[in-house]
Amino acid sequence: MGIYSERIFPWLLDRALGHPAIDARRASLVRGATGDVLEIGFGSGATLPFYDAAKVKQLTVVEPSDGMNRRAAGRLAASPVPVRSVPGAGEGLPFADASFDTVVTCLTLCSVDDPPKVLAEIRRVLRPGGQFLFLEHVLSDNVDRRRWQVRLTPLQKVIGVGCHLDRDTAAFVRAAGLALPPVVQEEERAFGALAPLTPLIAGQALRD
Ligand SMILES: C[S@@+](CC[C@H](N)C(=O)[O-])C[C@H]1O[C@@H](n2cnc3c(N)ncnc32)[C@H](O)[C@@H]1O
Repeated sequence: MGIYSERIFPWLLDRALGHPAIDARRASLVRGATGDVLEIGFGSGATLPFYDAAKVKQLTVVEPSDGMNRRAAGRLAASPVPVRSVPGAGEGLPFADASFDTVVTCLTLCSVDDPPKVLAEIRRVLRPGGQFLFLEHVLSDNVDRRRWQVRLTPLQKVIGVGCHLDRDTAAFVRAAGLALPPVVQEEERAFGALAPLTPLIAGQALRD
């Protein structure tokens, strides 16, 4: 791994995504997490302060980047909930079937190598009746913006270490067999000039 992806990008990301408006969305995302919880693509641990100690029995986090894991160390030490960090990636989760009540991703499915594989893994590790909670930026509903998302994704993948602007994440969630009601796209002004190209969706998908 290069110096950009392991040193500079984790630092940049903390600043770019450390906005109070994004933290408010993170807080609202993880507020519903209950029981045995898995978060995939934990990054520097920006969601961690917002987990509810009264609801979370054990939080397990998976993050493949050493640079991100280094940045997460301080937050892990101050965690409000019992937490363990496990090496791995979303495409091959090192857990038995039906291990978790809740799986969380926050701005992660844009960056994984293989979204259908990650979602199949999420379904596999969820218990029946378990929930997948997500906050993700996705392919726009607007046709003109979509064209720009497709055009700019090759550049974004370099700048954002694998981040895609053109992922139809809700479709991937449903294709994995998780039940997801209609979701509404929202622009987040904290993303600045990128806001029209990074509409957000948040939701709860259930495993039968
Ligand atoms: C944009 S960052 C978001 C980090 C954090 N969730 C947040 O809210 O700030 C995306 C994260 O996904 C991680 N990631 C990339 N590929 C992954 C994979 N295949 N499995 C799990 N995490 C992955 C990256 O290392 C990075 O930490």
